[in-house]
Amino acid sequence: MKKPAGFTCTACGASYNKWSGRCDACGEWNTITEDAGLSTGAGSKSLGARRGRSIALTDLATDEAPPPRTQSGLAELDRVLGGGLVPASAILVGGDPGIGKSTLLLQAAARFARAGLKTLYVSGEEASAQVRMRARRLGLSDAPVQLAAETNLRDILTTLESEKPQLVVIDSIQTMWADTVDSAPGSVSQVRAAAHELTTFAKRRGVSVVMVGHVTKDGQIAGPRVVEHMVDTVLYFEGERGHQFRILRAVKNRFGPADEIGVFEMTGGGLAEVANPSALFLSERGEPSAGSVVFAGIEGTRPVLVEFQALVAPSSLSQPRRSVVGWDSGRLAMILAVLEARCGIPFAGLDVYLNVAGGMKVTEPAADLAAAAALLSAREDAALPGETVIFGEISLSGALRPASQTENRLKEAEKLGFTRAIAPAGGKPVTAGGLTLTKMPDLTRFVGETFGAG
Ligand code: TYD
Ligand code: MG
Repeated sequence: MKKPAGFTCTACGASYNKWSGRCDACGEWNTITEDAGLSTGAGSKSLGARRGRSIALTDLATDEAPPPRTQSGLAELDRVLGGGLVPASAILVGGDPGIGKSTLLLQAAARFARAGLKTLYVSGEEASAQVRMRARRLGLSDAPVQLAAETNLRDILTTLESEKPQLVVIDSIQTMWADTVDSAPGSVSQVRAAAHELTTFAKRRGVSVVMVGHVTKDGQIAGPRVVEHMVDTVLYFEGERGHQFRILRAVKNRFGPADEIGVFEMTGGGLAEVANPSALFLSERGEPSAGSVVFAGIEGTRPVLVEFQALVAPSSLSQPRRSVVGWDSGRLAMILAVLEARCGIPFAGLDVYLNVAGGMKVTEPAADLAAAAALLSAREDAALPGETVIFGEISLSGALRPASQTENRLKEAEKLGFTRAIAPAGGKPVTAGGLTLTKMPDLTRFVGETFGAG
């Protein structure tokens, strides 16, 4: 019996049973490709022999301590991993080409090797000499890391069998190919097969595998999202071109909190840790100006202050522009609708630009009030006092919902020299430290008290 053909979007990994020009899931064009068949060997038998073993849950839970994690010593990386590298874990590191994934992983490999893990760095993109040159530039020539330039999966697994490393970096998963799959390297089938082989190997042999995945817009090459479900931990390395900041973000982690971030700065000598990201993100801020608001956010377990900047200008377009960088455009539309419907402040006929400074991406709902304040401040051409931080989620009714970790946000703001905070009313009572805390029940009150009659 012939298996019906499957189709997969190379950008987001959505599956379809027929081809189409546009992926309904992510909206990209020309990214859907037909899956090549996996050759499964002797064909499928009805039932396997008694191969699968089961074990009682209680038998596992006896006195086995959780396996010890290894710390790289790069605090920004260790925190994102959930407190260090877990043995036998499979990790995916995705990011745009050129963002610094190879640099980060070579530095991490060197750190883990120095911390005592036997480490192998497999490059499918560069010759070993090139990797060695990069290591020299990063001041890591003497790190005890094994290098291999290899793309054939069978050869890599053979090397792993003989070398028995504890940590393997695969740079990148898109260059790997299995000879059991008849399609080109980088195709959905190849990338999936390679990721599957490597993660299975990792689990069986107790090796940690880190796979690099380039984010691609090209329909021919599968992106990292097609393997996200196979691995334990998914990290994305983000940053804006023209900015030195790089953010390593956990979007999935079986061994730690998701949403944790690590902040780095790309320098001539590789990636440097940024221990105080708030100070960095606010460093370009000048005098208080209309449209600029500081949001006291939380990224994972850490407070991070960032600046929201808005520009509102009369539009010459029949459909005024709504442009967002670093925040969700759906969320912007919602805030504009609530401002119009609940506070009677229209944005029709106005172009709206909203930007999170420093190349940071904010995903927290608690940023709503800061975004609204930036929009209002820009629209009214009235600067908010420079020493104020703002946070709070806005509901469709215009009410403000209490945010999590209020005290952490306030503490960070105070540490950076802010003196006032505006936060939602309700929630647990908090000590504001040295800050003057104004609690707002809803958006209408906020507009009235902050911008007068408006
Ligand atoms: P790279 O790690 O090769 O990116 P990726 O593997 O994600 O494609 O990084 C490429 C960029 O980083 C390149 O433009 C040069 C820059 N870079 C530095 O600024 N400093 C350095 O020390 C290194 C090694 C790279
Ligand atoms: Mg690279």
